[in-house]
This record gives sequence, structure tokens and C-alpha cells, in this order.
Amino acid sequence: MGLLDGKVALITGASRGIGKAIALKFAAEGADIAFTDLKVAPETVSELAQTGVRVKAWESNAASFEDTARVVDEITREFGRIDILVNNAGITKDGLMLRMEESQWDAVLTVNLKSAFNYIHAVSPVMMRQRCGSIIGMASVVGLHGNAGQANYAASKGGMIALHKSIAKELGPRGIRANCIAPGFIITDMTAALPEAVRNEWVKTIPLRRGGTPEDIAGVALFLASDLSAYVSGQVVNVCGGMAC
Ligand code: NAI
Repeated sequence: MGLLDGKVALITGASRGIGKAIALKFAAEGADIAFTDLKVAPETVSELAQTGVRVKAWESNAASFEDTARVVDEITREFGRIDILVNNAGITKDGLMLRMEESQWDAVLTVNLKSAFNYIHAVSPVMMRQRCGSIIGMASVVGLHGNAGQANYAASKGGMIALHKSIAKELGPRGIRANCIAPGFIITDMTAALPEAVRNEWVKTIPLRRGGTPEDIAGVALFLASDLSAYVSGQVVNVCGGMAC
């Protein structure tokens, strides 16, 4: 018996990194997996298929309203239901404010925040018909505390928190929960792009003295997706090794 037996999970940006770890964790607990990415990684599809659950991936841009509506329609027809939505797709385009270009601001806000609007907008009618669902937004500790050089990213993640809290209030009466995870410093391709010296400095500020792993995030996502958290909604769970407390 898995914690997610009989459930269907939709995860955005799950070809690699945190999204992939969440998909693998959910599959190991019995959920059928629909995932999206700008580019679908065939090895992720086959790793997921090896768990024995049903898996299908869609190549699509989460920032596109039309693309999202089409993908959610196809997933609903293919899988019959959507129990869990993880708004995970995200990017960084860091820079200090004086040097930040309008295009950097627009790209990060569109991919990180508008994408979550697109998916919640498309999925909530399905969850409302089912009278149940769990929506999880991938925020960040910088969405709570801000970060120099990441005004665009921090604003997008603060927006994610406000969006999911609002949905918790709006759709709670329909049996739908919405929560956010706020990861700290997690070792993925996204953070590998930072210079080694910067990464080492980050680790010194973390009480647990290590960067997090995608699996550290996946464990909390499993809790929020499953009925273990049946009375948890509108919350932000920091997963940051004690960095943001
Ligand atoms: P990653 O860069 O390793 O993976 C992101 C995935 O999203 C990639 O597969 C990428 O192709 C996909 N993606 C990007 N734009 C997309 C779009 N428009 N449509 C569909 N898919 C798209 O990043 P990582 O580290 O796994 O991050 C996942 C989420 O966690 C992001 O929202 C990120 O902001 C958040 N996060 C990550 C932290 C970290 O330290 N790695 C810390 C806090 C939050």
C-alpha cells in the first residue's frame, strides 16, 4: 500500500532536479504521473515507468496559458482525474536592480509565477468536480526574506506564496488544499550554475552545514500531497536545513 495509491499527480518542470525527485517519490508511493517540461528527458520517463505506475510526459511551456489549457485537457482525458498539482517549473535570471533588464524581470515572473496561475486555472475545475485535490507551489526562502541580486526571483516566489494562500482560502470549501514549499539551498543544475566560492559561502550559513538534496524536498512534497496532511492548507513549509528560521 502506497500513500498515493489511486491518485494522479501532475508535476511541471519534472525532467530533472527537484521536479524529477518529486515525480519519483510520488511514483514510488503509487501515484500515476503526468509531467511537463520544456524538453522531456526520455531517461526520466523510463526511470518513472520502471516503478510500475502509469507515466506520460508533455513537452510544453508552463508560461503559456494556451499550452497549459491544452495539456491539462489532454491529461484529464488520458488519466481521468488530477489529484495533485505541483507547480515546480522555475528559472533564475539574477542581477542587481540597477543592471536588471526588463526582459530578466518579465521572463522570471512569467515562468515562475504566471505558470502557476495557468496551471491552477486549468486544473481547479477538475479538482472542484472531484471535490478534492492538493496543490503544491515551489516557492523559496528568498520569497519570504528577499535576496540581493534576485529581486525578480524573490518577487516571483513571494507571489507564489500569496497565490497559493489565496487559493487555499478560495477553494478550501471545495475540498482543495494549497500549500507552498520554500526550499533553501538545494543542489541541482540551477544552483550548480553559481560559482563554487558562492556555494561554499551559502553552506556556511546553513545550520545543518550541507546543501539540501532534491529528495529532501520530495519528502515534504509527499507529505503535502498525501492524506497525512489532510488538515494542512495555506501553509509554507521551509526546507532549508535551518537556514531561514
Ligand atoms: P532545475 O533548473 O534543475 O529544473 C527546473 C526544470 O524546470 C527543468 O527541467 C526545466 O527545463 C524546467 N522548466 C524551466 N522553465 C520551464 C517552462 N517554462 N515550462 C516547463 N518547464 C520549465 O531547477 P530546480 O533546482 O530543480 O528547481 C525546481 C524549482 O524549485 C524551481 O521553481 C526553483 O525556483 C525552486 N527552487 C530551487 C532551489 C534550489 O536551490 N535549487 C531553491 C528554492 C527554490
